[in-house]
Amino acid sequence: MTFTASAEVIRYVGADPVFLDVEEGSCLVTPSGIDEALNRMPGIKAVVVVHFGGQAADMPGIMKICRARGVSVIEDAAHAFPTRCAGRMIGEWGDVTCFSFDANKTITTGEGGMLVTNDERIAKRARTMRLHGIDRDIWNRFTSASASWEYDVVAPGFKYNLPDLAAAVGLAQLKRAHEYRECRQKIAEKYLDGFRSLPDVSLPLVHGRGEDHAWHLFWLVLGPGARLNRAAFIEALSRHEIGYSVHYKPLHRMTYYKETYSLSPELFPNAERHWKGCVSLPLFPTMSAEENGFVVDTVRSLLS
Ligand SMILES: Cc1ncc(COP(=O)(O)O)c(C=O)c1O
Repeated sequence: MTFTASAEVIRYVGADPVFLDVEEGSCLVTPSGIDEALNRMPGIKAVVVVHFGGQAADMPGIMKICRARGVSVIEDAAHAFPTRCAGRMIGEWGDVTCFSFDANKTITTGEGGMLVTNDERIAKRARTMRLHGIDRDIWNRFTSASASWEYDVVAPGFKYNLPDLAAAVGLAQLKRAHEYRECRQKIAEKYLDGFRSLPDVSLPLVHGRGEDHAWHLFWLVLGPGARLNRAAFIEALSRHEIGYSVHYKPLHRMTYYKETYSLSPELFPNAERHWKGCVSLPLFPTMSAEENGFVVDTVRSLLS
């Protein structure tokens, strides 16, 4: 099932969202940030936690706070497959967890994703809503003894079903998910070692063990005292034919969210600092040790 944590979902839920700043270094929401928001606005019904870059947010802390208040927890695990937190997989913590299998994610079906839940009521609703609000899923229609043509539409659903061909690609990728993750961890560790002492360059803050991390992204944050500013660094990477990206321009700077919810940069100082200096470096399982070393050496020569 495809799931997009976007304006479409917010509109569907029908209530105005509250946006939180993230922790500096990890870009994760924290239990204390959530606690403070729930105290300020006791009407909040659900919290959406993004496991940014492939690292888990503090799920034991977040679940404790939310369970005590009867607040549901939805995890955006688009970056976090496979990721662990306190010995449990991401997907085993919240009420609902959404994974993405988009083309640039840790496993892919081209487009698509997966929603997991332990709640049978939510599962039933999701199964109905993913295919036009139909009360029988397509598998049931063609495998049960009752007539395949007969179905009812019981809700105003979406067209979010994962096509069979995409699912077949996903099943093949799934078998290799841990192997891919280990490759990414090795690359990330080489980056962490190589860039530790660069002046005014911040590295991702890793809370747990490296092996709990999906390592979907590896970024540097260039501060005002870095050897190059971001534009010059990006230009130099391009000159050396090193791919890069910027993850991300934050929601408070996106026109729709900024205007609809009156968001401004002063409300999100940590996200703002990250965004002003962040550059993501290449990180993919088939990256060779030579390519990894070339990026380390080039970045060091540019920023030392
Ligand atoms: C954090 C995060 N959440 C959700 C999504 C959306 O995933 P999808 O395009 O599979 O709906 C993305 C996609 O890049 C993402 O990075």
